[in-house]
Amino acid sequence: METTPLFAVRALSKSYGGRTVLASLDFDVRRGECFIIMGRSGSGKSVALRQLNVLERPDSGSVTFDGAVISHLTEKALKPIRKRVAMLFQGAALFDSMTVFDNVAFPLREHLDLSRADLEQRVKKHLALVGLVDIEEKMPAALSGGMKKRVALARSIALDPEAVLFDEPTTGLDPRTSATIARLIQATQEKLGVTSVVVTHDLVLARRVGDRVAFLHDGTFRFVGTWDEAGHSSDRELGKFLAGEEDIDDVE
Ligand SMILES: Nc1ncnc2c1ncn2[C@@H]1O[C@H](COP(=O)(O)OP(=O)(O)O)[C@@H](O)[C@H]1O
Ligand SMILES: [Mg+2]
Repeated sequence: METTPLFAVRALSKSYGGRTVLASLDFDVRRGECFIIMGRSGSGKSVALRQLNVLERPDSGSVTFDGAVISHLTEKALKPIRKRVAMLFQGAALFDSMTVFDNVAFPLREHLDLSRADLEQRVKKHLALVGLVDIEEKMPAALSGGMKKRVALARSIALDPEAVLFDEPTTGLDPRTSATIARLIQATQEKLGVTSVVVTHDLVLARRVGDRVAFLHDGTFRFVGTWDEAGHSSDRELGKFLAGEEDIDDVE
């Protein structure tokens, strides 16, 4: 049985212009789990997430993926890692000048040398997984916001990654589309066995999909554990956050 965590972050620190955003952060993401990173706006959630696929590098400390340190790798050496760790960005944009098919096929063409038939089969499979059929020839402009999100998710899982990193996947979406996104996150976890890390301050989403949650505050995780444990935590900041006492400037 595999027991090493998929990601292991150790003593990771990151500052910008003299301001410490992450201060000696330590955490593991276990294989197959959905790990939530919560916290107020500007607390460093996106910065922490981008360390996991080395879009940003630590000032000190390390990130290990599947047993190997990745935080110091060159861009070239990172290419196979990026194939295994997908990311769905905040406001994930599709390529507007490309059809849905070409959008989803993009990472496949970049990383693999598939025949046309195999390419079509993979694109169809991933669109079906996010509940979309017969829209391959449509342009993004013809799609609703929720459908664009689904296509973006299909594109990010096209390479059958082991992990998917989600940055605020429901920001700006109506409750119904948000619920769809939550189901899709669960479906990719269950059907593809992917490990997911979700940055969000959408508590409805977090409660729905999260196996464990981490609360980022002042550069460190004040809390990491299950929802049940979060409910019993005596941490005052976590309590305030869960009670919805948001800062007035916390609306994104
Ligand atoms: N590339 C960057 N250059 C300078 N400052 C940055 C950069 N990325 C993030 N920051 C700063 O780090 C802090 C945390 O940002 P971020 O991780 O985006 O917060 P959030 O929790 O809202 O996702 C913010 O103060 C932001 O301005
Ligand atoms: Mg962010």
